This record gives sequence, structure tokens and C-alpha cells, in this order.
Amino acid sequence: TPAPGIHRGLAGVVVDTTEISTVIQETNSLTYRGYPVQDLAARRSFEEVAYLLRYGELPDAAQLTAFQARERALRPLDRTTLELLTRLPGTCHPMDVLRTAVSFFGAEDPTEDDGSPAAHHAKSLTLLARLPTVVAADQRRRRDLPPIPPDPALGYAENFFHMCFGSVPDPEVVRCFEISLILYAEHSFNASTFTARVVTSTLSDLYSAVTAAIGALKGPLHGGANEAVMHMLHEIGDPARAGAWLAEALAAKRKIMGFGHRVYRHGDSRVPIMQEALDRLVARTATPEATRLAALHTALREAVLTRRGIHPNLDYPAGLAYHLMGFDIPAFTPIFVMSRITGWTAHITEQLGHNALIRPLASYDGRGQRPVPEPAPRA
Ligand code: CMC
Repeated sequence: TPAPGIHRGLAGVVVDTTEISTVIQETNSLTYRGYPVQDLAARRSFEEVAYLLRYGELPDAAQLTAFQARERALRPLDRTTLELLTRLPGTCHPMDVLRTAVSFFGAEDPTEDDGSPAAHHAKSLTLLARLPTVVAADQRRRRDLPPIPPDPALGYAENFFHMCFGSVPDPEVVRCFEISLILYAEHSFNASTFTARVVTSTLSDLYSAVTAAIGALKGPLHGGANEAVMHMLHEIGDPARAGAWLAEALAAKRKIMGFGHRVYRHGDSRVPIMQEALDRLVARTATPEATRLAALHTALREAVLTRRGIHPNLDYPAGLAYHLMGFDIPAFTPIFVMSRITGWTAHITEQLGHNALIRPLASYDGRGQRPVPEPAPRA
């Protein structure tokens, strides 16, 4: 345990103010720009939430139409980008591909260093529009399939299915996916958002901040957990094994993926709505595999809660939902990026609005000062 006054992991430390979102501990609810996220998920589209996070207010009908038209027009990738993607080894993780693509977009953008709000709005919208095209093209390449160009007649969520699979599933499945995007969009000073703010605080550019944020999200303690959840469910395999598997995992001091949270101690406020969407998806899918995985998912959740009192976080229901929608496991965290890009870029703009270089201190506990010895004489 670190000495008093040392906040390892910055746990409990308030480092700045934000107007973008907050977790209200008393009611265990999360709000985006003041609106409860569960109400946004129930009543609004992902595009409306993306607009809200960027501009601070929900769009009226004309604003939404204009925003959607711009987003749809910005989706296609040029030949150079598509070629670049095919040059990356097929063995690398799709998060590496996404990180490289964003870095490349920055290198290509002559306005890269323009940090004005207008430039930020434009770059943020471009990234929002293009990232799904990158993720889908990369997923298809891994299945030896050619990319499918975006369809400007389709909404953000529908178009992603179209680009991945060449078809759009029924509205219930699309809605479940859209709910996950709304819930993943923003979460205050989480590790990846804070990373983006640290980079921005040096007056570096937006692409550098997003590239760094993607690196932070990749880790299994953060966004990588939604993939780890599915690997874990496959490892356990059978609902009847959940209890024994958990006992072994806890004895080996393993972290149970998709459980626990730095901020929520009594359950993640986003879980109930995602769990309901997952339940609808399971009922609709109704294959023996879906039924078995859903039973295992429930059994493990109950076992973790009973044995350790630890609640699931959003990655727990989202991971299984993405599997049932047909996405390959390594696409799960990139999908998280397609959504969280909205929160990251809102924070990058906010950071510049009241910037202070983020540069904490450390308490030194290494060797005391000592003389540098004379180098040994050369033989
Ligand atoms: N499995 C087993 N034990 C856990 C878990 C878990 N998932 N989460 C917390 N604990 C235990 C932990 O071992 C510790 O016990 P003790 O006090 O006996 O040492 C106690 O609960 C407090 O945990 P902590 O690690 O000090 O809490 P933290 O705030 O540093 O960690 C966390 C938060 C999310 C890193 C952690 O809960 C974890 O590793 N969870 C698994 C990975 C995961 O699901 N991450 C997704 C986070 S939420 C959404 C997102 O970012 O994508």
C-alpha cells in the first residue's frame, strides 16, 4: 500500500471540472449533458447522442438532418487508406489497425494542428464517420472478403452491419446494437478519456490524442474487457461449471472480466438497460448456443455476486450481445471506439477550453544520491 497522500491510480482524485457527463452516486445514474443515459438509450438515436455530446444540446429536426447528411458523406475511405489497411499483418489486433488508421488520418490532414472549436467539430465528425468503415473493412479482410462501401441511405448502426455482413438484421437487433453504442459513448474521466486529455494538455493535436486514447482503451482492465468476457465464457463453456471455474479463478487471484468498477461500487448504472436489450436478443436468437451462453452468463453473474459481492459492468452484457450479433471477438473493442470517439473528442475540445498542462508529481523512493564511479580503464 502506498504511503498516505499518494494516490496510486489517481483513485478518488478530482483533477478538473467537466460539463460533459457525470455519475450521480446517490441515484447510481449517469447523465450526458444532464440527460439520464437510460432515457437517451430508450428514446434517442446514437446520432442524436453524438450531436448532444459534441454541441451540448440535442439537435432539432433540421440540425439532425444536416448532421446526419455530413456524417454519411464522410464515411468512405480513399484508396490509399484501404491499401494501408491491407499492408498491416493479419495477425495484429484490430485495435492496432484502428490506432494506425487514426494516426494516418492525422498525417494526411493539412489542418492537423488547428485546435479551434470549428476545426475540432469537423475532425471529430470525420473520425466518427470513418472509424466504422475502417473496422468493417478490417473485419472482412480477416475473413478474406473484399470491403463493402458504406451506404448513405442507412443510419450509423445499420450501415455498420451492412459494411460488415452485406445485410442489415431486423430492427430489434439493430436497436440492441444502437443501445450499446449510446451506453458506451461517454463516461467522464475514465482511463482512455484522461489519456486523451493528457495529450491535449500539451497542446498536441486531436489525432495524437485519439491515437493515444485507443491505446489506453485496448487494455483488458478498460475497453478490452468486452472481448475478455467472451473468451472467458468460451473457456467455462457450460453453465454447470460456472461455480467451480469461479472458485479456481479466484483462488488463482484472477480478475473476473466484466466485473467491478472504479467508480460504481453498487453496480454499473448502464448494466440494467444493456441486460434487458441482451435478454431480448437471446429470446429472438433462440439457438441452443445462445440459450447455453445466456444461462452461463446468468450463472456466472450470480456466482460472482454471491461469492464476492462484485457487480457486472457494461462490458459483461455487451460482450455477449456482440457475439450473438455475429461479430468476431476482436471487433468488440473497436466497436467501443466507434462509440467512445464521441466522448473523447468532446473532452479534447473541453480540455482546450480551459487548458492546464497535466503534469503530476511522484514521491521518489529510489536510491539516494550517489557519486558516479570512474569508468574502468580500457584494456
Ligand atoms: N474480479 C475479481 N476481483 C475483483 C474484480 C474482478 N473483476 N474487480 C475488483 N475486484 C476486487 C479486487 O481484487 C480488490 O480486492 P481486494 O481489496 O481483496 O484486493 C477489490 O475488489 C477492489 O478492486 P480494485 O482492483 O482495487 O478496484 P479498482 O478500482 O482498482 O479496479 C477494475 C477496477 C475495473 C480495474 C477492476 O474491477 C477489474 O480489473 N475488473 C475486471 C476488468 C473489467 O471488467 N474492466 C472493465 C471496466 S468498466 C468498463 C470499461 O472501462 O470498459
